[in-house]
Amino acid sequence: MRVLIQNGTVVTAIERQHADVLIEDEKVVAVCAPGTLGEIPVDTIIDASDKYVMPGGIDVHTHMELPFGGTFASDDFETGTRAAAWGGTTTIIDFAVQAKGESAMDGYEKWREKADGRVAIDYGLHMITGDINEQTLKEMDLLVDEGVTSFKMFMAYPGVFYSNDGEILRAMQKAAENGSTVCMHAENGIAIDVFVEQALQRGETDPVYHGLVRKSALEGEAAHRAIVLAELTGVPLYIVHMTAKEAVDEVMAARDRGLNVFGETCPQYLFFSLDELDQGFEGAKYVCSPPMRDRAAGHQERLWQALASNDLQVVSTDHCPFCFDDHPELGRQKRLGEGDFTKIPNGMPGVEDRFEVIYHGAINEGRLSLNRFVEITATAPAKMFGLYPQKGTIAVGSDADIVVFDPNRVHTRSAASHHMRVDYSAYEGMEQTGKVETVLSRGRVIVDGGQYLGRPGDGRYLRRGFSQLLI
Ligand code: URP
Ligand code: ZN
Ligand code: ZN
Repeated sequence: MRVLIQNGTVVTAIERQHADVLIEDEKVVAVCAPGTLGEIPVDTIIDASDKYVMPGGIDVHTHMELPFGGTFASDDFETGTRAAAWGGTTTIIDFAVQAKGESAMDGYEKWREKADGRVAIDYGLHMITGDINEQTLKEMDLLVDEGVTSFKMFMAYPGVFYSNDGEILRAMQKAAENGSTVCMHAENGIAIDVFVEQALQRGETDPVYHGLVRKSALEGEAAHRAIVLAELTGVPLYIVHMTAKEAVDEVMAARDRGLNVFGETCPQYLFFSLDELDQGFEGAKYVCSPPMRDRAAGHQERLWQALASNDLQVVSTDHCPFCFDDHPELGRQKRLGEGDFTKIPNGMPGVEDRFEVIYHGAINEGRLSLNRFVEITATAPAKMFGLYPQKGTIAVGSDADIVVFDPNRVHTRSAASHHMRVDYSAYEGMEQTGKVETVLSRGRVIVDGGQYLGRPGDGRYLRRGFSQLLI
């Protein structure tokens, strides 16, 4: 099978060229000046005139079917990865879960069972090590052999996913030994819980208090502590879903000292603030952790700046949707927290939105170059988690995971037209210019002309290598 993407502007993290891209079976086999390929027979021609041809997005932070707060994230691997494809994302890395008292290997196998045969696009797994003990430490080596080369721990959510500093230190020592990366949810959950208790005692139960008790200084403090522990052990540290300028400053200082410390943020923190949480119970739609921050305090602009200066390297989604209204199969989700913000399941939809909304904020609003857009949405995520150059670029030998993007098409974001299995859009009514038009996953056209052409099980599990962003 040969596919020719003709006459587009091919954009990678380092180049922008007017070119044709030739694909044979699953791989890119040529990128060359338009019309210079000669008389090669092809099965499909895609006209990309006036369009950008970019690497498919890589979202390294999703939670399909995550159990949380007495319910499950509403997208499963089938619905969530199909929605990802619609939005121009061709690879996800999801978080498999080891719950307390369970084996990490069992958690990994459970996640493979949920995903294999159902995913629309290729996927890898991180492991949430929720119970650090001698067996888990041994299993971390076995997981690396399976291509799970990153482990997430939580300094937040005491009694659920939380690990204490001693447990974190032990897991970091193991990860440093076997070459893997530690992903950290950096919020001081013990201190936050004191503020939670005091807020509830005052009768402060609305979603906005979720944002007010989870103070930005406690994200900064946890980031600092995680960096100290990482430096002591020599492990690469990747701080997930960063929201606070205090935490960005910690990452920046660590990187200035030459440490392998990295950070990601998510679209919701680049677009929204405490204002979205402060609209009565509607604010529950925006409840996730860490929370949206006070716009006037400058967190948002600091995040954009840090993406421009490479103090932050990646934009992922932390896709973890819960329906706002009761769902016929999933039951109560966000509404579990009516009258008590601590019972609102934490998380937001976004896997379908990321590519286009970040394009909007980065390019239409003039904050980043087109190359940097590709870098933070595809290339750096691939390098960070050991998938490059198979993924994350358009080059001879790379998987043909490609987005043909129309930079001039105007559209309006809405739950009525999105494909995620959730009953609201965080971006409802937002008008944007620039739309994903055609999506190829390993050479197969899976989205084109407003139609989904893929099937469940098209995607494959990716055995990842070690991080390729290390100093
Ligand atoms: O609120 C969030 N972020 N939910 C998903 C779980 C996590 O902490 O990443
Ligand atoms: Zn987290
Ligand atoms: Zn997450």
